[in-house]
Amino acid sequence: MKEKISKITNEVDSFLPKSLDEVEIFRLKYQAKNGLLNTLFNDFKNVDAKDKKEIGQAINNLKIKIKEKISAFSEFKVQAKTKANFDLSKPTKNSNLGSRHPLSLVESEIVRVFSSIGFNVSEGPEIEDDWHNFTALNLPKEHPARDMQDTFFIQTNPDILLRTHTSSVQVRHMQNKQPPIRTISPGRVYRNEAISARAHCLFHQVEGLYIDTNVTFADLKQTLLFFAKELFGEKSKIRLRPSYFPFTEPSAEVDISCNICSSKGCAVCKYTGYLEILGCGMIDPNVLDNCGIDSKKYTGFAFGMGIERIAMLKYRVNDLRLFYENDIRFLGQFSSEI
Ligand code: DAH
Repeated sequence: MKEKISKITNEVDSFLPKSLDEVEIFRLKYQAKNGLLNTLFNDFKNVDAKDKKEIGQAINNLKIKIKEKISAFSEFKVQAKTKANFDLSKPTKNSNLGSRHPLSLVESEIVRVFSSIGFNVSEGPEIEDDWHNFTALNLPKEHPARDMQDTFFIQTNPDILLRTHTSSVQVRHMQNKQPPIRTISPGRVYRNEAISARAHCLFHQVEGLYIDTNVTFADLKQTLLFFAKELFGEKSKIRLRPSYFPFTEPSAEVDISCNICSSKGCAVCKYTGYLEILGCGMIDPNVLDNCGIDSKKYTGFAFGMGIERIAMLKYRVNDLRLFYENDIRFLGQFSSEI
């Protein structure tokens, strides 16, 4: 009996299956009703009383061994199973896609609208000199309107500054190109302002410039109306209010009908039915001449708008700081196909 047990123990020890079927055959050989283990337990009845303890223990150890062997290879079973299911052509789990920043979405949208009517896109430096940012735009030194734009100067050189508006790109464009000119210039601008829900020391603008022979205020108005309808819907209306900018004459501020209350009056439009979106005007002849364009031959219009302002209106965001905090709970809400 002892010999039989030790022979079976050796067999079990050396068992190394290559497939699931072999494990199953092993299991049946030892654990089935009429398997080897039960045969041993049956034979155990006939063992001499004095050997019962020793042989009983040996059979029990063997039983445990067999059980362990099978369970060890049931892991192998799991592995074999996953291997069998490994399908390279299966679609993967969805991973979280990033989304474009709302300011970048609005900028693309503005570029799309103006590109569709023949405007190209131009850019200029964020670190500017005084002449391009102010003087050429009819804002000579000591001009009171300079105060409207709290400027960051580069300390070591008061002539160099962070541009306060994208109008400086107009100047560079006019210096380098002759009419007809149709361009928009999106970009980052800087002002030394206290940060709040409505103001930031860094924000984005889009500048527009159109110069040709016989350009009139009517062209300006129609261009902006087209833009408003494209961006805020076909029903949108615009309203021009006389205003002042040193670089345009006449100048206007443009309001768009409030799309939240359909111009009936709500808290967002402060019960006026309209929301301010941009500044514009006919380019002052001094500016054309400053930049090398003959003001006797050409006329033109310009406009400038804040991208944050448009994004706040379009997405109904009430705090400008959200655009800069990069909280993914906020950013994740803006998905797009562009
Ligand atoms: N540069 C102005 C600003 O930052 C915006 C502006 C107003 C631009 C009128 C223009 C314009 O081109 O014609 O406040």
